[in-house]
Amino acid sequence: MARNSILFAGTANPPLATAIADHLGMPVGACTIEQFPDGETAVRLLEPVRRKEAFLVQPLSPPVNSHLVELLAMADACRRAGAARITAVVPYFGYARSDKRHGKREPVMARVVADLLETVGIGQIVTLDLHAPQIEGFFHIPMDSLTAVPTLCEMLRTQVEEGTAVVAPDAGALRLATEYAHRLGGAVVVTHKRRETGTHTQVTHLVGDVRNKPCLIVDDMISTGGTIAACMDRLRQAGARPHITVAATHGLFLSGAQERLEREGLRNVFVSDTVGTPIQWTKLHVVSIAPVIATALKRFMQHRSIAELY
Ligand code: R5P
Repeated sequence: MARNSILFAGTANPPLATAIADHLGMPVGACTIEQFPDGETAVRLLEPVRRKEAFLVQPLSPPVNSHLVELLAMADACRRAGAARITAVVPYFGYARSDKRHGKREPVMARVVADLLETVGIGQIVTLDLHAPQIEGFFHIPMDSLTAVPTLCEMLRTQVEEGTAVVAPDAGALRLATEYAHRLGGAVVVTHKRRETGTHTQVTHLVGDVRNKPCLIVDDMISTGGTIAACMDRLRQAGARPHITVAATHGLFLSGAQERLEREGLRNVFVSDTVGTPIQWTKLHVVSIAPVIATALKRFMQHRSIAELY
């Protein structure tokens, strides 16, 4: 591990930052992060960063806005203290679903976040399974979107029987489903959903045959669980076997998600540890993505390509 690098953790997922640091054989840099009574964020780096490459590990998980402000504050502190380069490791990129205007007079928040991150001097971004790949184009700095799919597939290999349908719960997840099917085998099926409320979606179409088949539903994220729940119901109506496995990179599991997902026939849910998953559930299996991120960071330090990690 190069002496000229330092890694700091925001408060969003310290265990992941520690696991990445352990893989790199370096400690997590000391810093204090507090909230003043008025809600302002106060950050102080307790170690020198001058001429160092600083890695800031902070997924933009809930509470998204305060985790974002923390990351901005940490980056600004690094910049003002003379860091040579600041790399934001943002395993889960909050606001990624706001990648375009969904209606008139709406903002494009992913672009706003990109601008903010660049403004405070961040010179490089590392993320995972970005909800919309085109967000990369919102940045003028290098952005690498790594993937949890190979890591999750290692866990899934023993779960997925022959003849499993790999299901994308919406068109946006098709690329991921194709990648899972390529690694695990199985035909790709897609459903089309209409979002009725923040927590409730309605499946309007199903393309592909799931009759008497076990299913693996894959998505980039599970937030309220509404998308996966509606997809499971539709698959069962279409005659799928009551043998459903779910895999997603980001397991946010907002309040009520477990209850929404709990169904007869749901066997297991696999997610990575990009965000600190807030629930304990016997069906939930969390696999660490720290080795993938650490490998990428090590290669940055060695000025090597990370192409084969994609
Ligand atoms: C949407 O396009 C995403 O890929 C996910 O399907 C969605 O954000 C999951 O959210 P929820 O779990 O709240 O339905």
